[in-house]
Amino acid sequence: MEILITGANGQLGTELRHLLDERGKAYTGTDTHELDITDEAAVNAYFEANQPKIVYHCAAYTAVDAAEEEPGKHIDEQVNVVGTTNIAKAAAKVGATLIYISTDYVFDGTNPGMYTENDQPAPKNEYGRTKFLGEQAVAKYAEKYYIIRTSWVFGLYGHNFVYTMLKLAETHDKLTVVDDQFGRPTWTRTLAEFMDYAVEKNLDYGLYQLSNENSCNWYEFAKEILKDTKTTVTPVTSEQYPQKAYRPRHSIMDLSKVEATGFKIPTWQEALAAFKAKM
Ligand SMILES: NC(=O)c1ccc[n+]([C@@H]2O[C@H](COP(=O)([O-])OP(=O)(O)OC[C@H]3O[C@@H](n4cnc5c(N)ncnc54)[C@H](OP(=O)(O)O)[C@@H]3O)[C@@H](O)[C@H]2O)c1
Repeated sequence: MEILITGANGQLGTELRHLLDERGKAYTGTDTHELDITDEAAVNAYFEANQPKIVYHCAAYTAVDAAEEEPGKHIDEQVNVVGTTNIAKAAAKVGATLIYISTDYVFDGTNPGMYTENDQPAPKNEYGRTKFLGEQAVAKYAEKYYIIRTSWVFGLYGHNFVYTMLKLAETHDKLTVVDDQFGRPTWTRTLAEFMDYAVEKNLDYGLYQLSNENSCNWYEFAKEILKDTKTTVTPVTSEQYPQKAYRPRHSIMDLSKVEATGFKIPTWQEALAAFKAKM
C-alpha cells in the first residue's frame, strides 16, 4: 500500500481523496468501522498487513464543545491522544511518513500578534489539549512526520461555519456573529494541496502552520459569506454568545514557514469564492 488515509470520510479526508483521484494517485481510505484508531491491536495488525508508505492521518474527534464534558475522560482523549499514539507508533514500525493535522486551538489566543511554529502552545479547551497531546505523540513516536496546524476549516464535504451561515440565511433576515475572535479561515482544498505538496517536495520533516492568507474575525467572515444574500450580520461579543468551550481570541498563525517552501497560499477571500463556485 502506498497511501493510507484515516478519517477518509470526514471533511478533510474526503477533500484529500478527491484531490488524489484528480492527480491519479492510488490510496486506501479508512474510517471508524474499517480501522478504529483507538484499537491498538487492530492498528498494528492493519499496518503490518498493508505496510503503508504514507499515512495521511485525518481521523480526529472534532466536536469542540462536546469535548468539554468530562475533561480527560471523554472520547476525544481516546481518539486524539490514544488513537494518534497508536498511529504514530505503527507508522514508525513500518517506516511510513506520517502527516498529522493539528489546530490553532493549541494556543490560548492571548498573543495579539501571530503565532509561529516556535511559540509554546497553551491550550485552554479540551479539544486543544488533546490535539496538542497528539502532536507530542507524533513527535515522540513517529520518525518521519509532518504536523500541520490549521484553523477555521471549511470545505464542500462536512459541517462547517460557511454552510451554517448559508443555511441560517435561508430562514433569517438578521444574524449576530462574534467580532472579538480573530483567526484565519482554511479551505480544505488548500490544506489537502499542501499535504500532498509536503510529501511530493520532500519538505523537511517537522511542524508547519497552514491556513489561507489574510485574517479576520468571525463577523467579517460571515459578512463575506453572506454578501450575496439579503441577510444582514450584526457583531456581538463572545460574552454575548457564550459557548461551552473557551475559544482563543487571537489565534492568527504565521504562515511564513510554508510560504518559504514555495507553496502558494490563496487568501481566504479567494478560497471562499472558489469554494462557492464549486458548491
Ligand atoms: N474542522 C475544523 O475546523 C478543524 C480546525 C483545525 C484542525 N482540524 C483538524 O483537521 C483534521 C480533519 O478535521 P475534519 O474537519 O475533517 O474532521 P471531521 O469531519 O470530524 O472528520 C474526522 C473523521 O475522523 C473519523 N474518526 C473519528 N473517530 C475515529 C476512530 N476512533 N477511528 C477512526 N476514525 C475516526 C470520523 O469518522 P466517523 O464519522 O466514523 O466518526 C471522521 O470521518 C482533524 O485532525 C482536526 O482536528 C479541524
